[in-house]
Amino acid sequence: MTPGRIGFVVAAGLAALCYAVRPRDDGGGYDPYFRALNETLRRNGPARPSLILDLDRLDQNIAVLRASIRDPKHFRVVDKSLPSIPLLRYIFEHAGTNRVMSFHQPFLSQVAEQLEGSQVLLGKPMPVKSAEQFYADLHGSFDPDRQLQWLIDTPERLEEYRELAERLHRRLRINVEIDVGLHRGGVQDTATLERILVEIAANPTRLEFAGFMGYDPHVAKVPSWARSRASLVHEVRTIYRGYVDYVQRRHPQLWNNRVTLNGAGSPTYRLYEDDTLLDDLSVGSALVKPTDFDLDTLTPHVPALFIATPVLKAGASARLPGLDWLSRLLDWWNPNLARTFFIYGGYWMARPVAPAGLHNNRLFGRSSNQEMLNGSARVELGVDDYVFLRPTQSEAVMLQFGDLLVVRGGQIVDHWPVFKQ
Ligand SMILES: Cc1ncc(COP(=O)(O)O)c(C=O)c1O
Repeated sequence: MTPGRIGFVVAAGLAALCYAVRPRDDGGGYDPYFRALNETLRRNGPARPSLILDLDRLDQNIAVLRASIRDPKHFRVVDKSLPSIPLLRYIFEHAGTNRVMSFHQPFLSQVAEQLEGSQVLLGKPMPVKSAEQFYADLHGSFDPDRQLQWLIDTPERLEEYRELAERLHRRLRINVEIDVGLHRGGVQDTATLERILVEIAANPTRLEFAGFMGYDPHVAKVPSWARSRASLVHEVRTIYRGYVDYVQRRHPQLWNNRVTLNGAGSPTYRLYEDDTLLDDLSVGSALVKPTDFDLDTLTPHVPALFIATPVLKAGASARLPGLDWLSRLLDWWNPNLARTFFIYGGYWMARPVAPAGLHNNRLFGRSSNQEMLNGSARVELGVDDYVFLRPTQSEAVMLQFGDLLVVRGGQIVDHWPVFKQ
């Protein structure tokens, strides 16, 4: 064979190999759920990017939660992951709780003002100035001396809070953050806890011991080949029990029946069904299940939150600017580049889910103005149809679209404002 002919055979062989390993066509249409939503939105939607909250699906998630967190345990709703007063109110009513975990001073102030009957525990230790701002903004019937627990991680921060209590002539309830294995701060030894407890005990008119908070999401996320889940759960409980025993033995006068022993979060709350130590479990994200919560511990939960955005332009295969030859090559190779859609907005922390088989184009790049999505010839989508995306997390994404579009039975039934920042 001549060198030219060898070259031709090698090139043809390579091309055949590339074609044989090309991506499979994963395009499709809407499933019945999203088809109905698309029709509703085409008729009554706002024709701009919006966030859909499905109450039927939220109810399903609340039922799963209620079956798991039973008396004498209490469910505490995480406000940052469900940042809307009407949504929190709905959850209070349907999940039978008035407990909130709060993470941001403006959210805390809105909860105190609008959910006056709530019991709030901070989910992170706030700078003392932020606590001071909360008291300055406070009005209405919410009584922080009874209804609020500040989270304290160090003796130094406790000292700042004690000084604040002196200035405000208040008695602050102090919950102590403990490190149960996550290593995100909090008390890590009994010597530090002792300093905190001594300070509380020495200032009974200004400070009250309110309990512990030990957060453990790593338990659901460490891969099983690295460490067994059973041993992680055992470690969390052993550490937690050690601190509880310490207070009960060394400072029994600080213990009372109002003490809150808080722990867990969406990834782990269902692992506490047989636990008898903790009495207060925090859950937020699992009630709407963004994609980061597609975990084995949350299998019975269903996604209840979707971004819906209209298609502005629908066309043929993806064309990369200035690189038509590459576009043709990629189009030949990848059937999922057969169609191009530009959507209203984009670049959210979210993944396209409907219709099936839509993908971001990494070569064209991302855009928060009008983002390119590609799909195969089988993707059923035209201008003014809606693309649906599942947020990867709820807390940041839920604040980006204005009012939530509340849906039941496939129809828009309400508009719920989200927290002011
Ligand atoms: C202290 C604490 N508890 C609980 C949670 C659980 O929140 P979610 O259920 O939304 O994951 C978090 C989340 O960051 C947290 O920081």
